[in-house]
Amino acid sequence: MSAILPPSDRLWWKQPLDRVEGTWIVIAFIWCMIMFVMMVGWHIYGKQNLSTETYKTSGAMFTAKAQAVVDKYTVRKETDKQIPVVHPPAGSDVYLVAKLWDWWPIIELEKDKTYKLHLTSMDYNHGFSLQPVNINIQVVPGYEHVVKITPNQSGTFSIVCNEYCGIGHANMAGRIYVK
Ligand code: CUA
Repeated sequence: MSAILPPSDRLWWKQPLDRVEGTWIVIAFIWCMIMFVMMVGWHIYGKQNLSTETYKTSGAMFTAKAQAVVDKYTVRKETDKQIPVVHPPAGSDVYLVAKLWDWWPIIELEKDKTYKLHLTSMDYNHGFSLQPVNINIQVVPGYEHVVKITPNQSGTFSIVCNEYCGIGHANMAGRIYVK
């Protein structure tokens, strides 16, 4: 038999299942089920991959809302790019724009107050990854992701991009202050 000629036994694959092979198939299936349950369980108990509500939007629509909040609640500017630092009132809607290669604006929140964080991307897929607490949200262009957040620790948090988005990906970092 060669790879070119057809095998002499046309039903070469039709053999009774070996015990060992059967055992491995059962083990693999059980492991798949464990992983599947873990995925759901980790989503609920892991608190790292948040459930978001997602709506269709456009860059222009989202920018208008984000700009209104920035115009109203900017308290100062930071970094050499003069990115506005927004301090919105507790309970309000907060907008964060991902674009090559910035998170805009910088957000300042109060501890133990609840906010609605809205996220979108102006260009490509970006990944919102809040460090060091490791909370991750996909940021997809054309969609507005809304997530309720209640910061329970104060400090300075970094938003790093964890979806590869081009040459500036490694420098795409933003900031959230919690006071
Ligand atoms: Cu944005 Cu990587």
